[in-house]
Amino acid sequence: LFDRLEEQKSDSLLQLIALCNADPRAEKIDVGVGVYRDAAGGTPILRAVKEAEKILLETQDTKSYLGSQGDARFVELIKPIVFGEAAAADDRIVGVQTPGGCGALRLGAELIVKANRAARIFVGQPTWPNHAPLIECAGVEMVAHPYYDRDTQTITFDAMMDALEGANAGDLILLHGSCHNPTGADLAPDQWRTIAELVARRGLVPFVDLAYQGLGNGLEQDAEGTRLVVEAAEQALVAQSCDKNFGIYRERTGCLFVKASDARGAGVVMGNLLGLARTMWSMPPDHGAAAVRIVLDDADLRRDWRAELDEMCARIRAIRARLAAADPRLAYIDRQNGMFSMLPLSKEQVLALRDDHGIYMADSARINIVGLSDESVDRFARAVVEKMDG
Ligand code: LMR
Repeated sequence: LFDRLEEQKSDSLLQLIALCNADPRAEKIDVGVGVYRDAAGGTPILRAVKEAEKILLETQDTKSYLGSQGDARFVELIKPIVFGEAAAADDRIVGVQTPGGCGALRLGAELIVKANRAARIFVGQPTWPNHAPLIECAGVEMVAHPYYDRDTQTITFDAMMDALEGANAGDLILLHGSCHNPTGADLAPDQWRTIAELVARRGLVPFVDLAYQGLGNGLEQDAEGTRLVVEAAEQALVAQSCDKNFGIYRERTGCLFVKASDARGAGVVMGNLLGLARTMWSMPPDHGAAAVRIVLDDADLRRDWRAELDEMCARIRAIRARLAAADPRLAYIDRQNGMFSMLPLSKEQVLALRDDHGIYMADSARINIVGLSDESVDRFARAVVEKMDG
């Protein structure tokens, strides 16, 4: 049986972690995979999360099953963070806990196929390398359209809108809610408004990937675009992740929210989500969601989480400013958001930085801004500028 399998290329981002780990050079710099690092280069557990874990250890009295929706209170607490307080009671929006943002994206794609095999999803280029495999694996047809021009470091909005005019009612648009991965180039408020108008006019369905809320310009601001398009659309999906904004990467904690046309439709969607989840992971892992629930249900822990999230956000902005100041050709980095930006380097230059300086970034020249410690940021900028100068 297995002799018929074809060799697979390993996931390039995960491969990069292994390559960097194997490099013995003490001065190596890891700006590969998207993990927050503090000024000293570590990824500590957030104070509020650590506290919640202690409470969980002391108070949890059973590990019995919770069911396919996961922790319903966790989902209830995340809903207003994503959609705003006013939408908390909107019974057209239902949600289930998922294993991270990946689980949410995959569950959403499965739901789309189940609802309408002919629905297509429009995806801007470039995008996170795992979007296409996740979506296509479920059998949704993907239509690529322009999003970002590397040479001018701008969003090619007109070309994007032209392409979206080709979408039919019921087709989907994949949108990065904030902190675009890999470019860092987020839609401006007026661009979100234009998309919201298109979505409403043409009956399109936004599918928002919101994996970095709070790490661009703040928790509320980072959700504004998502709220605009979801409100404008009759139906929508949002894949949410707590992995980054609670720093619980390996706990795989997220939600899929779906907005249906009315409360009755939302009930039907919910039944389908539960059925689909049952066929994939049956029930999501509990620990991360339980810790997040404890944080959000406690006023002091919630306040401390917000403070630490704002500190992380401020550090990202500070490193962006330092890189931008290093060379006029890097000035655009300060105008972008979140953990990622793409450098004006060819693949050959990226590989040369790896060999010459032990600098590990994705082949696309995407860097994790906070892979840089206070100590390494200037050294990194010098090496990049030297390479750009040829
Ligand atoms: C990234 O883009 O680096 C992160 O989202 C990690 C991942 O799973 O690829």
